[in-house]
Amino acid sequence: MDSYPVTQTANAATATPPAAPTHSVISPAILYVGTPVVIISSENEDGTFNLAPMSSAWWLGHSCVLGLDASSKTTGNLLRTRQCVLNLPEDSQTDAVNALAGTTGSNPVSASKKPRHYIYVHDKWTRAGLTQQASDFVRPARVAQFPLQMECEVVDVNPLRKDLPDKMGLALAIEVRVLRVHVADRLRMPGHPNRIDPDRWRPLIMSFQEFFGLRDTKVAESVLGRVPEEEYRAWTRSDIKKLPGDDDDEAHKRPQAVAAAVADPI
Ligand SMILES: Cc1cc2nc3c(=O)[nH]c(=O)nc-3n(C[C@H](O)[C@H](O)[C@H](O)COP(=O)(O)O)c2cc1C
Repeated sequence: MDSYPVTQTANAATATPPAAPTHSVISPAILYVGTPVVIISSENEDGTFNLAPMSSAWWLGHSCVLGLDASSKTTGNLLRTRQCVLNLPEDSQTDAVNALAGTTGSNPVSASKKPRHYIYVHDKWTRAGLTQQASDFVRPARVAQFPLQMECEVVDVNPLRKDLPDKMGLALAIEVRVLRVHVADRLRMPGHPNRIDPDRWRPLIMSFQEFFGLRDTKVAESVLGRVPEEEYRAWTRSDIKKLPGDDDDEAHKRPQAVAAAVADPI
């Protein structure tokens, strides 16, 4: 702390006029900055297999953490059976993902999905034109059309938002362990028995509900993208506990923000 006034003095001595602001405070209702689309295959109570697109997934080693709506059929299936297959489509396979968007294997449709007009579909394979391929270690089938498939078992389940009693557990972080990886031969790296060639693998990326590849343009229109982002606002904050930044979605209405917006109408 001793150096603090000195630094201030030095800054004052070399002070330049403040630069024009480069960043604004905004409050996006979603923060889906760009992650791969995964189609999860899981087993229903009647022995059939459900399919669900999701994209809040990340991997570390052979662990994967899945961020899932607790009310989804897939979540119930994972908690009950402890098994799933993660099927990853390429960026040319958006038709199948769009066919699955807005559907749930839950009957009746959960209260949280009704406002977003989800419909119940039991056989999502037929709906999306996808075919089953038997797995080796788990009961749910793999999706034959998708080039990267991971057979998994559930290791741990943690509710998100433990800081907010009224929102805790609406979404779950489900940790799975990848037991076996299947990859289309055309995506393998020549000369390396266990490598996927990133020059050949083109994952489908979901960014703010829209579809992209590892290219410089959107690859197709996204059905999920028809959901207004503000529909997700209820997930972002508690009704009973206030946190810093909770009102940032209204920041643009504050006087200084209005003045900045008029000066720089981006
Ligand atoms: C491209 C895309 C990405 C999605 N990402 C997620 C996600 O990361 N987590 C989640 O819970 N739901 C996500 N969803 C919504 C689920 O697909 C939705 O909850 C669906 O009803 C789940 O199906 P189920 O109820 O049959 O399990 C996504 C949907 C699409 C189309």
